[in-house]
Parts: sequence; C-alpha cells; structure tokens
Amino acid sequence: MSFFLVIISSCSRGPNPLALARRLRASLGPQALSLAMIVHMIRESRARIDGRTIRYLDSGSGWPVVLLHAFPLNADMWRPQLERVPEGWWFIAPDMRGFGPDAVDQAAQATLDQLAADVGALLDRLEIEAAVIGGLSMGGYVTFALFRQQPARFSGMILADTKAQQDTPAGLEGRRQMIDLARTRGAAAVADSMLPKLLGASAAARRPRLADRVRAMIETAPVPAIIGAIEAMIGRPDSRPDLSRIACPTLVIVGEEDVPTPVGDAADMQNQIGRSRLVILPEVGHLSNLEAPDGFALAISDFLASNL
Ligand code: MLT
Repeated sequence: MSFFLVIISSCSRGPNPLALARRLRASLGPQALSLAMIVHMIRESRARIDGRTIRYLDSGSGWPVVLLHAFPLNADMWRPQLERVPEGWWFIAPDMRGFGPDAVDQAAQATLDQLAADVGALLDRLEIEAAVIGGLSMGGYVTFALFRQQPARFSGMILADTKAQQDTPAGLEGRRQMIDLARTRGAAAVADSMLPKLLGASAAARRPRLADRVRAMIETAPVPAIIGAIEAMIGRPDSRPDLSRIACPTLVIVGEEDVPTPVGDAADMQNQIGRSRLVILPEVGHLSNLEAPDGFALAISDFLASNL
C-alpha cells in the first residue's frame, strides 16, 4: 500500500514539519509512505508603521529572507516561493507602497529610497536585525537602495532579473510613454503592453494561464501607484558603484529569455560582486520566479544551504 502525506505548516512554533515527516516515515515504513510533502501555509499580516499599513505575506520559520516584488505587481507574486520555503528559513514578502490589496489607502508617490526605508521599518517592527534581502527587477532596485541605506542589514542578497545601471535614453522614452498610457487608458492597457515583455516565449506557450494571473495582479494596481513607481524608477541612481561594496554572499538569478534585464546585465553585475554566484534558468523570461517556481526555489535553497 502507498499513500501521500501532505503536511500543512502554518505556524512558526510547534513541531518542525520536516522532523514530523521524518518521524512518520520512520514509524510507518518506506512502503507505507511513498511521499512526504510539506506545503507551507502562507500567512497574511499587516503592520501599522508611521500611520500607514504595510501588508506582508510570510511562511516558514527561522532565519529571515525578505523578497521584494516587481513592477507593477505585489507581494502575491512570491506565493510560489512562500510555498517552497526550505527548512529553517522564514520568508517574508511585503507589498510596496501603493501596491497590493491595501493600495487604495496609501500615498502612491514614493521614491525608491522611501520604498527601501519602508522595508527597513518593517524589519525593525519584526525585530529583524539582519536578513537575506532581495528582489526581482524593481524589487532589485529597492534592494540596492536599502543596501545604500543600511548595508549591515544584509546577511545575504538575492538579485533576480534586475540590473544595476540606469535606463538608456530609449528606456526613458519608453517609461514616459508608459506613464501616458497609464494615465489615458489605465492599468489594463499597461498590462497589455507589458505582458509580452514580462513573460518569456517558452513560459507563455507552456503555461498560458500564467499570463492571466499576472494580468490580474497588474490590473489591481492603481494608476497613481503605476505612475509613481515609473517616476521612481526614472529617478533611480546608478547602482554599479555599489556592486564592489557588496560583501555578503549574493545570488544573481536570471531567466535565459529575460528581455528587460537580460543575461548579459546579470553576468556584468555578478562579475563585480565578490562572493556571488549566477544562476541562469533555462527557457524562462523576466518573471523567472513565476515562470519556473521549482527552479527558482531550488536556486534559493541551494544558495541558503551553501553560502551563509
Ligand atoms: C519590473 O519587472 O519590475 C520592471 O520591468 C522594472 C523596470 O521596468 O525596470
């Protein structure tokens, strides 16, 4: 006889789910238990900081890992990683100001420095002194900003599908057009324009429903937040001078088919960061964590297991 066991782990205290799975496997025997799978239940919380509410998702327990989302998405984009937290780690994914289900209550205009300060304030509230901190694309830009503000906060860094340099003149023009598009035709038109660049060709063909999930996330973003974030990205500084100062272990991840932040940018970044490794996910585009959740989770868990 064989059956599946799914352990739902929802709290940070109590029996360690992996230990529990091992004990069950030992007492029931390998024939009886063909698979012990841990599915982490994702918690949703809100912290009230400086008169504003920051929603964050978290799962697992142990050493903290903070994941910052891409533009114009929200913390929900990290659900596949929050479901795959390695043993001994605590993953936390906040919404950035203006994004996520609480967005309507929030001031949308914020610089990347203010977004980074929000992350620092959340860590203070959660009594986290240092963490592995990283983000995907715009989340990477905010990671750089937080590194400039509070380098001691980083026990490790994750830079996924992001880049250190500022926008090219063509990129800046594209951003101005996107602001016009958002203003005149709303978030749905922004989704139409961005989706072909966000998802790689392979994932778009292999997982047609993924585009619908990403579109739904983009469409919840209020137009002022979309415009505010584009303006913040236009105003971001060059982070290349910071790269050689990053002394913590760093994981650079990029999708092989990423167009907005291609493999070459990731390799350039990784070359300048001392204790770093580069993982290129095959047949994957810009939203690599959503397109290849298992490969992305494996890259993170290998990094966490080996490097810190
Ligand atoms: C993102 O995914 O966050 C955006 O592509 C970032 C950008 O537009 O530079």
